[in-house]
Amino acid sequence: MKKFRPLMLGVAMALLPFIAQAQDEPTALKVALNEKTADIAPTMWGLFFEDINFAADGGLYAEMIKNYSFEFENPMMGWNRVEDHGAKGYVFNQNHEAAGVNHKYLRMQRLNEAGNFGLHNQGFRGIAVKEGLKYTLTFLAKVAKGHNLTVTAKLLDEDQVIGEGSVSDFSDQWAEYEIVMTAGQTLDGVNFQFLLEGEGELDVDMISMFPEDTWKGRKRGLRKDLVQLLADMNPGFLRFPGGCIVEGFDLENRYQWKKTIGEMEDREVMKNRWNIEFAHRTTPDYYQSFGIGFFEYFQLSEEIGAEPLPILSCGLACQFNTGEQVPIGALDQYVNDALDLIEFANGPVDSEWGSKRAEMGHPEPFDLKFIGVGNENWGPQYIERAKIFEKAIKAAYPEITIVSTSGPFPDGREFEYLWGELKKMDAELVDEHYYRPPSWFRENARRYDDYDRNGPKVFAGEYAAHSTTVSEDFKRNNWEAAMSEAAFMTGLERNADIVRLASYAPLFAHVDGWQWNPDLIWFDNLRSYGTTNYHVQKLFSTNPGTAVVPITAEGESLAGEDGLYASATIDETTNELIFKVVNIAPEAKKITIALDGKYKGNGKGTWLEMADRDLEAYNSLDNPTAVSPKTKSFEVKKKTIELTLQGQSVNVGKVKIK
Ligand code: AHR
Repeated sequence: MKKFRPLMLGVAMALLPFIAQAQDEPTALKVALNEKTADIAPTMWGLFFEDINFAADGGLYAEMIKNYSFEFENPMMGWNRVEDHGAKGYVFNQNHEAAGVNHKYLRMQRLNEAGNFGLHNQGFRGIAVKEGLKYTLTFLAKVAKGHNLTVTAKLLDEDQVIGEGSVSDFSDQWAEYEIVMTAGQTLDGVNFQFLLEGEGELDVDMISMFPEDTWKGRKRGLRKDLVQLLADMNPGFLRFPGGCIVEGFDLENRYQWKKTIGEMEDREVMKNRWNIEFAHRTTPDYYQSFGIGFFEYFQLSEEIGAEPLPILSCGLACQFNTGEQVPIGALDQYVNDALDLIEFANGPVDSEWGSKRAEMGHPEPFDLKFIGVGNENWGPQYIERAKIFEKAIKAAYPEITIVSTSGPFPDGREFEYLWGELKKMDAELVDEHYYRPPSWFRENARRYDDYDRNGPKVFAGEYAAHSTTVSEDFKRNNWEAAMSEAAFMTGLERNADIVRLASYAPLFAHVDGWQWNPDLIWFDNLRSYGTTNYHVQKLFSTNPGTAVVPITAEGESLAGEDGLYASATIDETTNELIFKVVNIAPEAKKITIALDGKYKGNGKGTWLEMADRDLEAYNSLDNPTAVSPKTKSFEVKKKTIELTLQGQSVNVGKVKIK
C-alpha cells in the first residue's frame, strides 16, 4: 500500500493530479465483525469543564449581574452610578455586622426626589434580553433611613424602556425582594438600571437577575442553550471543575468544593485564577461566584447522563505559578476534602456530608465512581502526595477509581518519571494532556498501539489541536484542527482497551471574555454554537459503540496510510456496525469495506459526513453550522460497502448487521 506522510498536507495538495490518477483503484478495507478486541467504556467520550473564558460566571451560570454581591476586590467593579435630571445622592459600601462570607453591601442614599438615581450594572460583557421573555430580579434590602422608598428596575434600549418593574414597602430588617420584568424586544447591550425613588437610605445586597428560560426552568439556573449543546453530545462523563483552577495560583486560590455548596450567601466569592493569568488577555473582572458549585456540577452530570468526575487539589498549587506546597504533615485537610466529597456524593442522608446533599434537594446518591487527585502536577512532590491520597481513599472507598496526573505535557522527562512512578503504584487511570499542532495529532494516531496493556489505563483528559496559521493569540477552531483530532481519535477508539475516557479542552468561551483558545463551544450573551471540533467530538460521542472490531487494509490498521485513518465498533445493543474513516488528503478517495463475518443486515446504511475543501474553514455565531455533518446513505452489496470519501473529510457510517 502507498504510504501517506500525514505531515505533508500542503505537499499532498500540490501532488493532487498525480495522486488522483492513482486513486482509480479503491482502497480495500475489511471489518472483522465477530472479532471484538476491546469493550468501549461507556465513559469513553466525555466533557472537560473549567471556569475559564467566562465558562461559569458570564456563561453556563445564567446570572446576568456582575459582582452581584459587591464582593469583588473593588466592590464597585461592574457598577456605575446613575444620577441624572437633577437627582442627588450617594452610594457607598458598608460591611455587614454579621459574621459570614458575604462581607459587603451597598448603601444608596438619596437626597432629593428629582430625576433618576441609582445604579447601572455592566453585566458580563453586556446584558442581553429576548423579546417576550421574563427576567426575575431579586435583591436583599433594608431601610436605613426614611420611608416610602421604591426600587424601580429598568431594561433600557439606550433611553427607551423595554422592560420595567418596581417594589416598595421595605422594612428595617434584611429581606429578599423580587421584580419580574418582561423584555419588549431582543437586544444585546441592554442598559440595566436599578433606581431608588423617594428620599432616604436603602441598603441593598445580592442584586441578581436571571432569565426565566433556564435549563429545566430552574430558579437561578443554567443557560439552557449551553446545557443543550452538552446534552446533545451524549457525554460519557463530566470532568469538573478543571483544569488549573483546581490547583489555584497559590494554595489560598485553589478550588475548595466545601465553599461552593449550600445557600449563595455561604459561597464565598473568589478571584478567578484566569483573571490575571495571561498578560495579553487580562480580565480583572473575572471572579467566581460559585453559583455553579459542586452540587450543581453533580446535578448537571446526572441530567446530561454523564458520570461525574471531580478533580481535587492534591496540596500543590499550580507549578507554572507559585507551586506552593502543603507540608506532608498538614495534608490531612486536603485528604479529608476528598473523603468528604465522596460522602457528599454517595453517602447516606444521615451522614454528615450526605445530609448536606439531601438538604440541597438530592437525597439519592449521585453514584460517584471517579475522583481525580491533582491536575497537571509533577515531580516527586506529586507522587509523595498522591500516595497519601490513594491510601486514604482506597481504605475508605475501595470501589472509587482514582485518576492520577502525568503532568502538563504528553512526553518528556516529567511525563516519563510520573508514568514510571504511577506504574509502580499500580495507579488505575492516568490523565494525559496534549495541546499540540494539528500535525502532532495526525502523526500520533498510533500513540497507544504500543502502550503497556498491564499498566494503568489512560484518561485523555485534555486535548485540542492548536492551529498555528493564525496569530499566537488567536488559534482558530478551524477544520484542519478538527479533522486532525478526528484522525487521532480513531487511534483512541482502536485502543479503547487502554483509553477509557477522553475529552477535548477547554469546553466554553465567551466571544468577548476569553483567555484561552481554541475552545469547543463559543457564545455571546444571546447565542452559542459548536465549533468544527464540537461536531467532530459529537460524531464520536453519539456513535460510540460498545466493542471495538478491527478495520484493516492489507491486514493492517489505518493510521495515516494513504491519508486514511479508521476505527470500527459494534453496538451490541442496536446490532450496528459503526465505522469511522478520516480522509486527510485533499482529493476524494474511493474505499470499499468488506464485512467479514456474520452479516444479516437489510443492506442499507447511513453515513454522516463532515468535509471542507478549506482547511481554514470554521463556524461562527453568524454561521454556526458552516462545517457540520451531512447525512448520506449507502448500500451493502455482497457484504461490501462502496464509498467515495470527500477530500478532507470525517465520515461515520452505521449499518445494521443483524
Ligand atoms: O484547558 C486549559 C488549561 O490547560 C487547563 O486549565 C490546564 O489543565 C491545561 O494546562
